[in-house]
Amino acid sequence: MYVKSLKLKNYRNYKSGFLEFQQGKNIIIGENAQGKTNLLEAVEVLSTGKAARAADDKELVLWGENSASLDLLFENKGYEESLSFEWLLKEPARPGMSGRCQKSIKVNGVKQESIKSLLGRLITVSFSSNDMKILRDGPKYRRDWLDSMAMRLKPSFHDTVSNYNRSLLQRNKLLKTLSEKARLTVQDQDELYVWDKQLAKFGTLIIKRRLQLLSELLPIAERFQSALSRESEKLEIDYAFRAREETSEQSQDDIAEEGENSDSTLRSLDEIKAMEDLELAKMLLKLMKERRWLELRRKQSLVGPHRDNLIFKLNGAAADHFASQGQQRSIVLALKLAELKRVENEIGESPVLLLDDVLSELDEKRAALLLSCVSDKMQTIMSTTHLTAIEESWLDKARIMSVQQGRTSLHLNQV
Ligand SMILES: Nc1ncnc2c1ncn2[C@@H]1O[C@H](COP(=O)(O)OP(=O)(O)OP(=O)(O)O)[C@@H](O)[C@H]1O
Ligand SMILES: [Mg+2]
Repeated sequence: MYVKSLKLKNYRNYKSGFLEFQQGKNIIIGENAQGKTNLLEAVEVLSTGKAARAADDKELVLWGENSASLDLLFENKGYEESLSFEWLLKEPARPGMSGRCQKSIKVNGVKQESIKSLLGRLITVSFSSNDMKILRDGPKYRRDWLDSMAMRLKPSFHDTVSNYNRSLLQRNKLLKTLSEKARLTVQDQDELYVWDKQLAKFGTLIIKRRLQLLSELLPIAERFQSALSRESEKLEIDYAFRAREETSEQSQDDIAEEGENSDSTLRSLDEIKAMEDLELAKMLLKLMKERRWLELRRKQSLVGPHRDNLIFKLNGAAADHFASQGQQRSIVLALKLAELKRVENEIGESPVLLLDDVLSELDEKRAALLLSCVSDKMQTIMSTTHLTAIEESWLDKARIMSVQQGRTSLHLNQV
C-alpha cells in the first residue's frame, strides 16, 4: 500500500500544493514552521478522518479562506483508489474561530455519509515527537492511542466508540438535571437506567477490545524494549480501571453513602480479562448503581472506559515517574514499533509509515532500530529539518522534496 500523490488546497499554510511520492522512502525537508508536519497531517487525516493536533476541523482551513480540500491517490493491492476531504466554512477562517464547519468526504469519487468510510482504506502508522505524550500526558492520550489503533484494525470499532460517547453525553446531561432534584422519582431512575445499560453495553465492548489489543501489543513491545536496553529492562503495561480504584480516592462519607459493600464487585485485572461480555457489563452496571449518589453529586459518569488509564512500568517501577528521559523515549519507540508490527500483521502488508522529525529525537542506537524495522517495501514519508541525521544508504534510495512557506518542490539534488 502506498500514497502516489497528494493535492492540497487552502489546507493549513498551503495555498495550493501537489506532491508525488514513490513507493519506498520519501523525505520532506524544510526549516521550522514551513509546513512539514502539516503535510504529514494531511495524509493522516485522509487515513484516520481526524487531525490529531487539531481540536477542531476549522483549524485546518488556511486563515482568510472559506474552504479547504485534500485529494489523495494511493495504490492498494494493485488497484488505484482516491480519497478526498473538503471543509466549508460560513466565514473566512481565523485562529480560534467558532461556528460550523461542513465536511464532505469522497472515496473513489463517491460521496460518503461519515468519516468512518475512510477507515480501513489507506492504513498509516505515524510517529512524531508528539507521541511522547503517550507517557507524559494525561490518560486521554493513552486511551486515544489505543482506540485509534483499534479503529484502524477494525473500522466497526468506530461505531462502538461513537455510540459510547453519545450515551455518555446523554447520561451526563441527565445526571446534571437530576442532581438539581431533591428526590428521584421511579421514572427518573428508570430513565437513568436506560443510559446505564447503554454505557455498560458499549463500555464492555471498548474495555474488552482494549485489553485484547494490549495483550497482543505487549509481547512485541517487550521484545523491542529488551533489545534497546541490552536485555536489562522489562516493560509491563497495566490497564487501570478507575471505577475499581475510585474507592481509595473517595472520602469516608462517600463510601458510607455508597453502602458498606461497595467493594463487592471489584475484581482483579486478570479476572476482568477472563470475564464474558455479559458478566463485565453486569459488573459495570453494579458499579454504576453503587456510585450513583456520588455521580449525581459530581454531575458526571464515573464508571466506564472513558475514565480508564494505561500504566507503563519498567522493571516494576511506574515509567512516567521513575524512567529517565532516554528510557521514556525507548518505551515510546518500543510501543510505536509494536503498533507498526501489529498493524502490519493484521492487514497482511505494509502500512504507510509517517515519521515526523523523529530521528532528531533519537540517539544513534534507537534511530538504527527504527530504520531497521522499515523494509524497502514499506512506504515511508519522513520529515526532517536537515539531512545529516539520515544514513547515506537511506538518502540514496529516497525521493527528497523541499517545503518552504507552504510551497513544495523537488529537492535541489533531485531536480
Ligand atoms: N489554518 C492555518 N492557516 C495558516 N497557517 C497555519 C494554519 N495552521 C497552521 N498554520 C501554520 O503553518 C506553519 C507550519 O506548521 P508546521 O507545524 O507544519 O511546521 P513544521 O515545518 O512542521 O515546523 P517544525 O520544524 O517547527 O516542526 C506554522 O507557522 C503554523 O502557524
Ligand atoms: Mg513539525
